[in-house]
Amino acid sequence: MFQLSNVTRQFGKKTAVNSVTFDIPQGQMVGIIGRSGAGKSTLLRMINRLVDPSCGSIEFGGIEVSSLRGTALRNWQRDCAMIFQQFNLVPRLDVLTNVLLGRLNHRSTVSSILNLFTRDERIMAIGALERLGIEQSALQPAGTLSGGQQQRVAIARALMQQPKVLLADEPIASLDPLNAKIVMDALRDINERDGITVVTNLHTLDTARNYCERIIGMAHGRVVFDGEPKDLTAAAVAEIYGADTAIEESMTSTSISIPAAAAREETASASFKPLALAGL
Ligand SMILES: Nc1ncnc2c1ncn2[C@@H]1O[C@H](COP(=O)(O)OP(=O)(O)OP(=O)(O)O)[C@@H](O)[C@H]1O
Ligand SMILES: [Mg+2]
Repeated sequence: MFQLSNVTRQFGKKTAVNSVTFDIPQGQMVGIIGRSGAGKSTLLRMINRLVDPSCGSIEFGGIEVSSLRGTALRNWQRDCAMIFQQFNLVPRLDVLTNVLLGRLNHRSTVSSILNLFTRDERIMAIGALERLGIEQSALQPAGTLSGGQQQRVAIARALMQQPKVLLADEPIASLDPLNAKIVMDALRDINERDGITVVTNLHTLDTARNYCERIIGMAHGRVVFDGEPKDLTAAAVAEIYGADTAIEESMTSTSISIPAAAAREETASASFKPLALAGL
């Protein structure tokens, strides 16, 4: 479904991404790993067209993504949702409105300007919040939520785009282990239940191994590993992270293992009427 051919991005003399070529079939869950500066964010940002490639081609379903303009580009950015390490919510707006903002690319300019969301859109937004276990926070300003809750709001907003692809740039890098697990479980669920392709940059090897059926390792802008977690040998890890560094997997671990009771407590919703909150 996805085809990258010789995708390259230069910033001045620096080659951030160097002739990257790979295919991703629809529905795969892919982890991209590599040292800081390896080019992981630049690669994701080119797929979403936040950054344009210097050369090479990015195709999705036979369409050349790298040459889209205007409405076609906005449609692609709707189909290809992205979440970030720092969540990128509007902190002073309530959670529900932040989630509804995910619909903007589906609507006319007039209804967007007037901030008119339909009943169906509001029901959909509450459903997305319920799915992520944060419907109780619907009317709170987004900036008052914990990091883990904010990332779940960002995922709910991405779901409102009804995307074909979800790109995640270090989605758990700012989170504690419990919230990291909740967020990664949510991404897995979206991948498995909705068939949405998930491509996520990760700085922890164990998370990539646990959650991703395919791992792409980058070093100095190039792909130096592309395979299943079981093929990620010590030699492959050394090539990705640099043979000069003795990499213990525990060094890059967030140790996502938590007591089940703590996880239940975090996601429990008690007796709560979310649709009433949304004025429905
Ligand atoms: N807008 C930019 N202008 C100049 N150089 C940039 C720009 N964006 C990225 N770079 C450079 O490109 C290289 C790759 O950066 P990128 O952010 O893609 O790496 P990364 O693998 O995501 O790193 P990290 O793990 O730290 O997030 C780095 O050397 C970076 O300094
Ligand atoms: Mg990055």
